[in-house]
Amino acid sequence: MKTKLPKIIVTSALPYANGSIHVGHLVEYIQTDMFVRFLKLAGEEAVYCCADDTHGAPIAIKADELKIKPEELIGKFAKEHLEDFKSFHIEFDSYYSTNSPENKHFSDLIFGRLKDKGYIYTKEIETTFCEHCKRSLPDRYVKGKCPRCGAEDQYGDVCEKCNSAYSTVDLVEPYCTICKNAPVRKDSKHYFFKLSAFSEQLNKWLTENKKLQPEIVNYVRNWIKEGLQDWDISRDGPYFGFNIPGEKDKFYYVWLDAPIGYISSYTNYIGNDVIKGEEGWNSSRIIHFIGKDIIYFHFLFWPAMLMASGFTLPETLVVHGFLTVNGEKMSKSRGTFFTAREFAQKYDPEHLRFYYAKVLSKKMSDIDLDFKDFQDSVNNELVSNIGNFCYRTLSFCNKYLDSKIGAIPKEKLIPEAEKLIENIHNAYFDANFNEAVKNILQLSTLGNKYFQANEPWKMIKEDKEKAGETITLCANLVKILSIVLKPILPEFSKRLQEQLGVKNLSWQDTKFNFKDTKINQAEILIDKLEIKEDETFPLDLKVAKILSAEAHPEADKLVVLQVDLNTEKRQIVAGIKNYYELSDLIEKKIVIVSNLKHAKLRGIESQGMLLAGEEGKKVSLLLSDAKVGSSLQFGTVKNNTAQVSFDDFLKVKMTVKDSKVYWDEKELKSVTVENISKGKVC
Ligand code: MSP
Ligand code: ZN
Repeated sequence: MKTKLPKIIVTSALPYANGSIHVGHLVEYIQTDMFVRFLKLAGEEAVYCCADDTHGAPIAIKADELKIKPEELIGKFAKEHLEDFKSFHIEFDSYYSTNSPENKHFSDLIFGRLKDKGYIYTKEIETTFCEHCKRSLPDRYVKGKCPRCGAEDQYGDVCEKCNSAYSTVDLVEPYCTICKNAPVRKDSKHYFFKLSAFSEQLNKWLTENKKLQPEIVNYVRNWIKEGLQDWDISRDGPYFGFNIPGEKDKFYYVWLDAPIGYISSYTNYIGNDVIKGEEGWNSSRIIHFIGKDIIYFHFLFWPAMLMASGFTLPETLVVHGFLTVNGEKMSKSRGTFFTAREFAQKYDPEHLRFYYAKVLSKKMSDIDLDFKDFQDSVNNELVSNIGNFCYRTLSFCNKYLDSKIGAIPKEKLIPEAEKLIENIHNAYFDANFNEAVKNILQLSTLGNKYFQANEPWKMIKEDKEKAGETITLCANLVKILSIVLKPILPEFSKRLQEQLGVKNLSWQDTKFNFKDTKINQAEILIDKLEIKEDETFPLDLKVAKILSAEAHPEADKLVVLQVDLNTEKRQIVAGIKNYYELSDLIEKKIVIVSNLKHAKLRGIESQGMLLAGEEGKKVSLLLSDAKVGSSLQFGTVKNNTAQVSFDDFLKVKMTVKDSKVYWDEKELKSVTVENISKGKVC
C-alpha cells in the first residue's frame, strides 16, 4: 500500500488484447515512457498507468476461432505485451486489465451515475444478425455492396470506394464475414448516452484549456459545431465484456469500459481500494497520450462521461500521428511491418528510442521510420557525437590521469551548457522530444569541440594539471549527459553512471560539481548500427532433366535441348556442341537459370540458360543429384525468382573450386562440376 498519493497520472492508450505490439504502437509507449521518466527524474510524483484493452467482439470471435476462452486469449497477450514493453525499457507503475473487478466497479459506478442523472436512455434499433453464427454482427463482421455506389465487398460502416458512411443494415446483399451466410435484420433495444447534452460544456473545456494542442481543439470544435450524435453504448451477446446491470444478454460497448481502465489501473497502483482510487484520481493531474485515430473517444465521449459522473478531467492529452516506415504505410508484403519482438531481435531497442525521440514533437503529423535516416542518426549522432565524447573523455582519464577527476576550471562553456540544460528541461516538460534531442546533441558537440581545442593529448606532456582540468570539465559534461539522456536511454545512462562511479542521479545533479574523485574503467557503450538487407541470390537456379538434344540447324556450336522441370517442360539453346556428344546429354540432370528473360538464339527460342564450369579450354556441365525441378541454393541464401535480363546474369560471379560451385564464399548445394579444379561458371 502506497501511503503517499502520486500527483500526476500519465497514461498511454490501452492496447487491444488480441494482437501483438508492433513498432507503430511503440511510438506511443516509448513517448509516454520518456515523459514519465523525465517527470520522475525532475522530482515530480508521477505514475505511468496502462492496461490491456480486453473486451469487444473481435476478442470474442478470435477466441471462438481458436476454440479457447476469451480469458485465456487475453491472458496470453497480456504476458506477451508486458515482455515486449520490457524489452524496450518501457516501465509501467501499473499495467492492469480492463477485465478486472475494479474496472467492473468503476464501469457500473459511472454508468449508474449517468443513468441517475438522466443521461442514459434506451431505443429499439435495427441490427444485423447472423442466424448461423447466432450473433449480431458489428461493422467489421458484415460485408456487402455499398448502398451508395454499389462497390462490392465493403464493410458495414464505410465504403472504401466512395467514402460514404452508413449502417450495417443499409448494405446491399450483405453476408456474414465469419460464415459467409446472409444475415437477417433484427430489432434490438440498445442503451444510448446523451452526448448531445454536453456540447456546450465540452466546447467550454476545449476553449479554456490552454494545454491542449490547438490544431486538435479546432478539429474537435468543428465536430461539435456540426452537431453531436448520442452514443450507442450497449452490445448484444454473445460478447466479451461486462453485463449491463439488470440485463441478461446486453453488455457495455468496449469503448465505454476501456477508458475507465485508466482509473482502474491507477486504483491497482494504489492498492486496489476503489474508494481511495476515486479520491486519488480526483486529486491528481491527469495526462493522456493517444494516437490521432482515437481523438473522438478521448476528446468527446470520455470527457463527457467524466463530467457527468463527477470525475476529474484530464489536464492535457498529447496526440501523436501515425508511424510510416520508409515513407509508406507499414506493410507485411514490403517487409516493413515489424512486431516489437521482431524488431528487438534485429536491432538495439535503445536505438529505436533515440530515433523516436528525435522525430517526435508535440504534433499530430505522422512520423516516419526511415531506415537510412535511422542508421545515420544512430551512427552520426548517438554513436559518433555522444558515445565517442563520453568514451574519449573517460578512457583518457583512465589512461593518463590515473582515473582521477580534479578541479573544475572556469570556462565560458559552463554558462553555455547551463542554457542548453535549461532548454532540454523545458522541451521534455512540453513533451517536445525532438527539441530535447537537438539540445542534447549541442551539449555533446560543445564537449567535443572543447576537447579538440584544448588538445589534452599534447597538454598532458607539458602541463598535467591543466590537462586534468580539461578532462574534469569534460567529465562533468559526461555526467550531465548521463542525466539528460536518461529518459530516452535508461540503459545507456545507467551504465555510463557506473563508469563515472555515481548512481541514480536526478535532474538536480545536472550541475558542474563533479570533482576530486575517481572514476571506473571506461567502456564503449553503444555500437554502430549495421542494417543488413536479407541477402538474396539474383538467379533462380533449378534442376532440369534433358529429354532430347538436337543440333541447331543454323549454328555450328549450338544445341537445342528439351528439358523437364517437373511442373513444366522447356526448350534451352546452349553452346556446348563442341564439348558433348548429343546422345550423351540425354537423361543428364543439369542446372538452369529459370528466371532469365527468354531470348531467340539464331532464330530458336531459349527459355532459360544452362550452366557450365570453364577452366581454360575445358568445359563441363553443372550436374545435380537433387530432385528434378527443385530450386538450388547457395547455403541458406534465398533465390530471387523475379525475371532477370542477360546483363543481370553477367553481373553474377560464380566460381568453381575442386568441382564445387561457389558464390560469395557459399557453396551451391547438391551440385558438382566434373574435372574442373579451378574455374568460373558461364
Ligand atoms: N484499445 C484502443 C485504445 C483504448 S484507450 C482507452 C486502441 N488500441 S490499439 O491497440 O489499436 O492502439 C493503441 C494505441 O497505439 C493508440 O493510441 C493508437 O493510436 C496507437 N497506434 C496503433 N498503431 C499505430 C501506428 N501505426 N502508429 C502510431 N500509433 C499507433 O486503439
Ligand atoms: Zn455467420
